[in-house]
Amino acid sequence: MRPLRLYINIDHVATVREARKTDEPDPVEAARIAETAGAHGITVHLREDRRHIQNHDLDRLAPVVRTVLNCELALAPDVVARVVRLAPYQATLVPERRQEVTTEGGLDLSGDSGRLEEVIATLTAAGSRVSLFIDPDLATIDRARALGVPAVELHTGRYAHTWRQNGGALAQLARASEHAASIGLAVHAGHGLTYVNVAPVAAIEPIEELNIGHSVVSRSVMTGLYGAVTEMQRIVQSARHAR
Ligand code: PXP
Repeated sequence: MRPLRLYINIDHVATVREARKTDEPDPVEAARIAETAGAHGITVHLREDRRHIQNHDLDRLAPVVRTVLNCELALAPDVVARVVRLAPYQATLVPERRQEVTTEGGLDLSGDSGRLEEVIATLTAAGSRVSLFIDPDLATIDRARALGVPAVELHTGRYAHTWRQNGGALAQLARASEHAASIGLAVHAGHGLTYVNVAPVAAIEPIEELNIGHSVVSRSVMTGLYGAVTEMQRIVQSARHAR
């Protein structure tokens, strides 16, 4: 059986920090905890609008990640230049629109791919393994293969939105994964996966890597809140009683 890697996306630790533009919570500390807990890799998305992960996060993360660093990025020149300089283990190219809440669809590979080819070549020359974030569509998978990348990440958003209603999106993911693997692509998957919907995707045999972020960060708020309140209560009450 093919092993399955779990990469944890820590962007939303930085989202909480950026809500106050302060220094906590620290995504680098989060990466350390995720690795200690068994994550096989750390994923971060350096967005053009820097709404969560900042340049300095990448610079601090790169030397301390003990597993592997997977940088998600779009084709914006300044972002590409930063990631190339860092040469992470893996670079996952994603589409990006400023107004979107999150990455809402996969890359459109049907048009002119000149800029994409240039960025793939630059990242590859820098030593990064390049993956393309695409919808689980057979023609798009074939186009990704033709671009010469070693891996694709299948967008699981449609599955995440519809899994309660029907199994169509799961079947599509399974078919797309089989197809991608059959033409020599490593298959990754992610987006919108949660504690309740991830199991059927994790069971799709050709998928070898999952990237999960929001649900894990959300869960950690809830599992950590009890201890956080207890600790604050201890500090404020002992300060009062020490007077
Ligand atoms: N994979 C890619 C390419 C993404 O853009 C994202 C979102 O940043 C994820 C995985 C993780 O998605 P989620 O935060 O919904 O788990």
